[in-house]
Parts: sequence; structure tokens; C-alpha cells
Amino acid sequence: MKAVVQRRYGTAVLGELDVPVPGPGQVLLEVRAAGVDMGTWHLLAGKPYLVRVIGFGFRGPKVPVPGRDVSGVVTGIGPGVTEFAVGDEVFGTCEGSFAEYSVAPVSQLARKPAGISFAEAAAVPISGGTALQGLREVRAGQRVLVLGAGGGVGSYGVQIAKARQAHVTGVCSTRKMDLVRSLGADEVVDYTVADFTGTYDLILDCGGNRSLSRLRKALTPRGTLVLVGAETGGSLTGGFERALRAAALNPFTSQKLFLLMSKERADVFDELRVLIEAGEVKPPVEREFPLPEALNAIDHVYSRRSLGKVVVTI
Ligand SMILES: NC(=O)c1ccc[n+]([C@@H]2O[C@H](COP(=O)([O-])OP(=O)(O)OC[C@H]3O[C@@H](n4cnc5c(N)ncnc54)[C@H](OP(=O)(O)O)[C@@H]3O)[C@@H](O)[C@H]2O)c1
Repeated sequence: MKAVVQRRYGTAVLGELDVPVPGPGQVLLEVRAAGVDMGTWHLLAGKPYLVRVIGFGFRGPKVPVPGRDVSGVVTGIGPGVTEFAVGDEVFGTCEGSFAEYSVAPVSQLARKPAGISFAEAAAVPISGGTALQGLREVRAGQRVLVLGAGGGVGSYGVQIAKARQAHVTGVCSTRKMDLVRSLGADEVVDYTVADFTGTYDLILDCGGNRSLSRLRKALTPRGTLVLVGAETGGSLTGGFERALRAAALNPFTSQKLFLLMSKERADVFDELRVLIEAGEVKPPVEREFPLPEALNAIDHVYSRRSLGKVVVTI
């Protein structure tokens, strides 16, 4: 099969690999599309270096094919699998979706939402799942601030918070304002002109790396700060120190401050399927790249040219 093959950090080429064989609890997928997000770049580059230490491979990547977000058709069933049958259309995450075939654990797959394309389905799992898990506590009428509202996680964050009937303020740069408005944000702030003001019940922080004290001042006394991530924290830890400070402070304040560690799980993807089929969430796919151009797709996301989600189609 054709696959993007990555033997060391920082580079990958289109090559040929054997079709993988599904093990217990896994299915073989004919991959139709693979989503791209900042995490795809992190694992390709091996940066911040923290990703090498936490299990993705110290000297080189453990998994030789990039890509985790996936949509496709089940073409083989591993031992013990009863959840899916050959021919089922699914989406979720796996290890190595930039390939014609990939194996995926059924614990990370759900049925593909009806009424959307494979490309749209592949744009959902990690970004949509992260936003969903970050917004668990949101209730109708609450004020939610989404920082990085025009990015992968933020674009789902705006839509999911609106689906929960919150009042949503999205913060983004000038060229993403129309996108964020179209996602349903009640207010849109262009951070290149002036930063946000006001107080919020929940802040979903997906970009900008603002200081903890700045964010806490914008929270209500019992508000929640969900640190998702940022790209300005340096190549060693990627800004993880801010999350450590939040964890250290959390027991001593009425506010709730935490780093989100999102889970890639079938039940999360099923919840997203329901939201999509109800018309409450729409995958904001900006651009599709064919498999041979997968590295261009990653660069498009990394260089912040994307307006919404980017997908590799196979
Ligand atoms: N904790 C977890 O489990 C988890 C899961 C998924 C992702 N992440 C991490 O979370 C971060 C966001 O992921 P993503 O996929 O959404 O990345 P993304 O698509 O690159 O989105 C980040 C957004 O932040 C915006 N931004 C940059 N500076 C900003 C500022 N000062 N104020 C407001 N927005 C600003 C960028 O917009 P402009 O380009 O317009 O500036 C961009 O749209 C990444 O660091 C990613 O690695 C963490």
C-alpha cells in the first residue's frame, strides 16, 4: 500500500508498506481521509521534545506513518471484534492514517455521521473531541470565551458551546473573523487590534499563551479555565510550565484551573456524531490535499495559513 513513511523526526516521504493486519480488538480500515492538526506536526517534528519523552519515541518515531484522525471503510476484522462488520463506514483515531490502509482499535472508532463526507468526518475526532471534553461543564446562559476560535479545536469549541446555549465570545486574528462569526459566535474579538475584555464562566484556551493571571482576572470567582494548548511555549516543553502552575494553584482558589488531556474514545466520537447529525456541529473543512501532498497539508496547518480544518484524502 502507499503510505507516508517517517523513519526519523522532521521528515517523511511517500513510500510503500505492507498492508497491516488487525490484531485483537482492531479492524483494518481502507482509509478515505485523514485529518491534520497541530498534533500531526508535533509528532512529525518530534517537538516540543517533551513528546519524545512521553512515549512517542525518543530517537525516532515509534509509529512509522503519521496521522491519527481517520475516516474510512472497515475491510477486515481482528479477533474478538463484534462492534463493526466489513463494509461499515467509521471515523475516529488510529496510528498511521496517512496511508491507504490502517488498523484502528474499535475503542477509538464510531460510525461515520450520516450526511457528511469522509473528508468532513476525518476533520472531527481530535479537534472536535478535545473541544467537547473541554466544554463538559458549560450550561445554558453561561458566558464562554474561546481563545483561538478560528483554529482546529476552537472552531469546534465555538459550535459546541453554542449548542449548549452559552453566550460565546471567540478570539482570533483578523482573517479568521468571518469564519468564527459563521460558526455562531455571539461576539468576535480580533486580538491583533485589541484583546478581549469582560468576565467569563469558562475560558477554553486554545491559543495565545496568555499568562495565568491575565486569564484568571477574566474568570468569574467560580469560573473554569481549560488550558488546551498553545504554540508559543518553546521547543523543549511547549509551555507545559503554565499548566503545572495552574495545577499547583488549583487547590487554593475557588476557580477551577486545569490542563485538558483529551481522550481519543469511541463514546466521545459517538457524542460528536449525534451533534453533527442534529445539525449542531459542522466540520469546518477548508482544504483537502491528496496523499502525495500530505506534507504540504501539515505545513499549511503549521504555518497558520489554514482557515478551518485541513484533510488529506486517499
Ligand atoms: N490538551 C489536549 O489534549 C490537546 C488536544 C488537541 C490540541 N492541543 C493543542 O492545543 C493547541 C490548539 O490546537 P489546534 O489544533 O486548535 O491548533 P490551531 O488550529 O493552530 O489553532 C490555534 C489557534 O490559536 C490562534 N492564536 C494564536 N495566537 C493567538 C492569540 N494571541 N489569541 C487568540 N488566538 C490565538 C491561532 O490563530 P491565528 O493564526 O489567527 O493567530 C490559531 O487559530 C495546540 O497547541 C495543540 O497542540 C491540545
